[in-house]
Amino acid sequence: MTSSESRDLNMVSMLWAGPELAPDIAGLHAGLFDEPWDATAIAKLLEHPGATTLIAKAGFPKASVGFVMGQIAADDAEVLSMGVTKEWQANGLAKKLMEGLERALKRSGVKRLFLEVAEDNPSALAVYKTRGFAEITRRKAYYARTGGTAVDAIVMSKNL
Ligand SMILES: CC(C)(COP(=O)(O)OP(=O)(O)OC[C@H]1O[C@@H](n2cnc3c(N)ncnc32)[C@H](O)[C@@H]1OP(=O)(O)O)[C@@H](O)C(=O)NCCC(=O)NCCS
Repeated sequence: MTSSESRDLNMVSMLWAGPELAPDIAGLHAGLFDEPWDATAIAKLLEHPGATTLIAKAGFPKASVGFVMGQIAADDAEVLSMGVTKEWQANGLAKKLMEGLERALKRSGVKRLFLEVAEDNPSALAVYKTRGFAEITRRKAYYARTGGTAVDAIVMSKNL
């Protein structure tokens, strides 16, 4: 099998994640973010009644390769976090995860989806813009970066 075949999106399974998959998401999170969330904190989020989280699995044996965590609050919902392993990045997996999340949220009656993204995260911004999110405001100097610089958080939303 070639490396491109091994990253065929048709070979990816999408599962709805409950608290039992918190360790998988924590493992992915730790490899992708400077400030990882631990499995206990993730399990707590997944226990919430409005938790709507998709996890992507691929390979033989199946391994977790991506996730998107959403949280419903009445008519609105928020994307809490999203990540795709480095090996799987730039194959359209994040866009596919977002599409699945949005469809489920819409079916649950959610009207508007919100998220926050750092202005220095071009791949996440590309995913959100492709999915039709638009900037509504900015939180100035919200994220601290090593070396003492700070970057804005861009708050985006999309009507579902
Ligand atoms: C952000 C992330 C989830 C994207 O996952 P992914 O599966 O690679 O995303 P996709 O393949 O669906 O789309 C990536 C898009 O970013 C674009 N992109 C990648 N690097 C880029 C760069 N340096 N500049 C501009 N666009 C870039 C790709 O071209 C693609 O857009 P396109 O299909 O319109 O061309 C992944 O990079 C990740 O896990 N990053 C670390 C965690 C993170 O930052 N999460 C988001 C927090 S808000």
